[in-house]
Amino acid sequence: MAAEVLSTETTALMAVAVERAAERLRSGDVVAVPTETVYGLAANALDPAAVARIYAVKGRPAHNPVIVHVASRTMARECTSDWTPLSDRLADVFWPGPLTLVLPRSPRIPDIVTGGGSTVGIRWPQHPFMQALIRRCGFPLAAPSANLANRLSPTNASHVLGQLGDRVALVVDGGDCNVGIESTVVDAAGTAPRILRPGMIDEPALREAAGASAVLSEVVGVIPGQPLQSPGQLARHYSPRARLEVWSWRDDAELARRLAESGAAPDRTYVVAHHQVPHLLPLSQVILIPDDPEAFARALYAQLHQCDDVGAELIVVEAPPAVPAWAGVADRLRRASVRE
Ligand code: TXA
Ligand code: MG
Repeated sequence: MAAEVLSTETTALMAVAVERAAERLRSGDVVAVPTETVYGLAANALDPAAVARIYAVKGRPAHNPVIVHVASRTMARECTSDWTPLSDRLADVFWPGPLTLVLPRSPRIPDIVTGGGSTVGIRWPQHPFMQALIRRCGFPLAAPSANLANRLSPTNASHVLGQLGDRVALVVDGGDCNVGIESTVVDAAGTAPRILRPGMIDEPALREAAGASAVLSEVVGVIPGQPLQSPGQLARHYSPRARLEVWSWRDDAELARRLAESGAAPDRTYVVAHHQVPHLLPLSQVILIPDDPEAFARALYAQLHQCDDVGAELIVVEAPPAVPAWAGVADRLRRASVRE
């Protein structure tokens, strides 16, 4: 089976894609869809058999909860048994957008969505196709990233086709993802947000939205520039096939020495830099991304996919600055660099 790909480039094509995707989702099928963060593999969140198909297609372990996507505050509240004042504050500022709120689940949400747990992750995505699709369906959509388990998330339709093209019937092409890494996941059950997965909505932004008195506890093990508190939490994830390492280097000489020590084939070594530009490798093996967290996040996965496509053995990524705005990128790089 080869997936059908539907474009959303014009209003008419968008309407057709929404209709066809909604038909499939109503009948209990899965569909690969664009969101502003990464592409998702969607199913009716209220239909356990449909959600089971997501796990089967991805080869994903069943204890890993799936995020539920909604298209209104009302729909979000219906997914939880306790919508908190903090949730309203965060939703006011960040929804629709790349923020997932973790709250006590409603009995309507099946076990398979929450990994058997008592909470559910809820997000109102910003991508216009996703919003139109959820409204057309009338039910929330469970959607993890549309990649095989433990592989790199897709940020365009061809990334999805590369991994899931023979496992799903329909891929909707909504262009390149504007954010580029997965949403910030926040526990919003209490009075202060607790970051469970860093993303492009960073700690200062959350603090401001939550109110000045709010104190954020920190993500265990993933604070940039600080030692790991619990390396066990850093399961390998979001990974290219190539070995990925995060380094800082003072100059070309230091980088050259470390590359030589790495033992990787020089012609299959790629360096992703944003600040300390190397001059010792052929230009085709140097990837420059602007020294800006938004631009870096937007480009990162596409560059890693590209390195995999050309058969990279080692990808060296220049360490991101240890400041909150880069925390989401730093988290993904650390997870991608964990060895199995
Ligand atoms: O941007 C995104 O969040 C993308 C797009 C498709 O929306 N989705 C995504 O889903 O990244 P996924 O399944 O690849 O990642 C889901 C992660 C879980 O591994 C977990 O870290 C967190 O979200 N999560 C979901 N539900 C949770 C819950 N009830 N409690 C704690 N964490 C939860
Ligand atoms: Mg994922």
